[in-house]
Amino acid sequence: MMDFRGKVILVTGSSSGIGRSTVELFAELNAHVIGIDMNDEWGKELESKLRSKGLDFTYFHSDVSKIEDLKRVVDYISEKYDKLDVLVNNAAIAEWKYFEELTYEDCERVIRVNLFPTIFLTKFVLPLLKKSQNASIINVGSVTAERGEDNLLCYAASKGGVHAITISLARILAKYNIRVNAVIPGPIDTPINWVRTRGPEKAKWEQWIKQVVLLSRWGKPEEVASVIAFLASDLATFITGSLIAVDGGYLIR
Ligand SMILES: NC(=O)c1ccc[n+]([C@@H]2O[C@H](COP(=O)([O-])OP(=O)(O)OC[C@H]3O[C@@H](n4cnc5c(N)ncnc54)[C@H](O)[C@@H]3O)[C@@H](O)[C@H]2O)c1
Repeated sequence: MMDFRGKVILVTGSSSGIGRSTVELFAELNAHVIGIDMNDEWGKELESKLRSKGLDFTYFHSDVSKIEDLKRVVDYISEKYDKLDVLVNNAAIAEWKYFEELTYEDCERVIRVNLFPTIFLTKFVLPLLKKSQNASIINVGSVTAERGEDNLLCYAASKGGVHAITISLARILAKYNIRVNAVIPGPIDTPINWVRTRGPEKAKWEQWIKQVVLLSRWGKPEEVASVIAFLASDLATFITGSLIAVDGGYLIR
């Protein structure tokens, strides 16, 4: 059984979807969890919900693409805990534009949010990770990096970068016994996909999912969160540099 008692865990993109499920799971497994997001309504609501159950979650309004926002959170963790055990780089946005309409600014924003924090938040928390007994970083990639999509070029590029950073950082940080892995989600039923899973075209998308996912259904955010927790746990101490698909068989279909 996994237990994160005494562990300090930072999750980006913590208000919604996979990040939110990850926060809930780590908090239920007794960790001190800190979350970064810009959706304050959902972030604060999650904080109240978990605290009312006696669990430890602190929400920060921070934009992962702003260095000063990241440093503020790192300072808080440094002063309060003087260590960090797990970093989950999860926050991301997508551009949903075809190549013909794509602008430099669209692409720049996606890269700033999805790619740079995976490098620089990791760099800022490194002194704190070095103080942990079983430190690990889990990055959230995407099957889109491996397969491509017609209207997600920059998103795919950013996630390909996340996969590459995972492998490089696993090499670079091994000397500190810090493990670095990534999960690669397939189609997951999170708010980003609610227009497909709950909208008027739900039936069309249900057909699509049966064609592209071997297990013929949308994944649930908690099914990704459980793999993230496993990778962070004492059950995974010999796993580093791995990119683990959580995709119901999407990539091998
Ligand atoms: N849902 C899927 O089908 C799917 C598939 C593959 C990969 N992923 C990846 O999973 C991760 C989580 O996505 P999700 O599906 O839960 O989506 P989501 O939109 O529900 O959650 C993303 C969260 O990130 C936050 N966020 C966005 N920009 C931010 C910023 N600049 N600073 C701080 N927070 C910011 C959002 O407010 C939101 O709470 C992402 O990395 C996404 O690329 C999702």
